Amino acid sequence: MTTPTEKRGRTPFRAKRGTAPFSGRRLGVLISGRGSNLQSIIDATRQGRLDASVGIVISNRPEAGGLARARDAKIEARSMNPREFADRDACDRAIADLLRDRGVDLVCLAGYMRLVGASLLDAFRHRILNIHPSLLPAFPGLDAQRQALEHGVSITGATVHLVTAELDNGPIVVQAPVPVLADDTVDTLAARILVEEHRIYPEAIQIVLAGGWTIAGRRFVRTA
Ligand code: GRF
Repeated sequence: MTTPTEKRGRTPFRAKRGTAPFSGRRLGVLISGRGSNLQSIIDATRQGRLDASVGIVISNRPEAGGLARARDAKIEARSMNPREFADRDACDRAIADLLRDRGVDLVCLAGYMRLVGASLLDAFRHRILNIHPSLLPAFPGLDAQRQALEHGVSITGATVHLVTAELDNGPIVVQAPVPVLADDTVDTLAARILVEEHRIYPEAIQIVLAGGWTIAGRRFVRTA
């Protein structure tokens, strides 16, 4: 049987096991703020480093700077304010519906400051990525750069992982180390980590879209 994807001449993504086959390479990006990671993803798609397109950007905050970046790039930008929904689940269901309606294959959280609820997780099982500014499992949650400084580690970094119900705890796809310097402040450290974030997020998305991986226990294992 010919799938709509094959008709469009693109190779459908198939993970080996545990994930539904992708029917294309369309990203939905969820943001809450300035959207520099969103920008790095858009740039990578347009420069041919990432074989995908951003189909929609959704922010839980109407004032998020990233929405303007999306509009500048002629990408649909939507604000879904949780306060306008009866409860958290209703909001997550509306987001899942919108992403599905736009044909999104992979959801990328990029500075999205909300927990992802069961409805969204179930709708995109093993198809939601997040970027976090530390070498997980160290320093999950808020203020990861400050946590690293206060802990006195000499190396921290950035992690892209699949999203699960537990915060910052899903299978790790790509990590990059960043040294902590003696005179670092939260801002200088965050800026150096951000450079690595912008490098590894498009890379991780490409890896996930390419398929040939499976989830073994809590590990992301490449099989091809
Ligand atoms: C990044 O440091 C990301 O790792 C964290 O939130 C920040 C978002 O920055 N989850 P931006 O909005 O992508 O510029």
